[in-house]
Amino acid sequence: MITVLCPGSFDPITVGHIDIITRARDLFGSVLVGVGRNNQKQYLFGDQRIDLVREALDGMDGVDVSPIEGLLVDFCRERGITAVIKGLRFGADFDFELQMAHMNRGLTGLETVLLPAAAEHVTLSSTILREVMKLGGDVTPYVPDVVARAIEAWRSEPVD
Ligand code: PNS
Repeated sequence: MITVLCPGSFDPITVGHIDIITRARDLFGSVLVGVGRNNQKQYLFGDQRIDLVREALDGMDGVDVSPIEGLLVDFCRERGITAVIKGLRFGADFDFELQMAHMNRGLTGLETVLLPAAAEHVTLSSTILREVMKLGGDVTPYVPDVVARAIEAWRSEPVD
């Protein structure tokens, strides 16, 4: 059994992410979910993203959660992790993931496995969910209960 890292921004975690994490765990036996930071992005849920991922995945066998500080490749090297797995929805994902995959492999040899998103999740996007929720729309079908509750709390006291 090898542990594979499933990294992402998870702002917030969606049912699409959970599907990829579950399938990664089923494929590899064990998955570490890494909540990272893309410096090009402003996060709505900030550090709360980590707690939401932890609570959403609580009780899942073979699934652990960790924040990622610094470079992804350093995080993996320190833990003996040799591969990351990312969900792939459409062409734009592929273009971005390919750049990161080659950079990570060039830096330390870290491999990337790309897993096609389930058909019912290919158009699901945290970016669009944030837009809809900011404008008062109901996104509960697309997020775990813990995120739905966090959105309710955010609605009563928005930070952005
Ligand atoms: O869900 P996202 O936004 O596509 O996740 C991107 C993330 C956080 C996995 C990526 O930005 C990342 O790996 N950040 C850690 C810092 C790093 O190593 N950046 C260089 C990536 S080639």
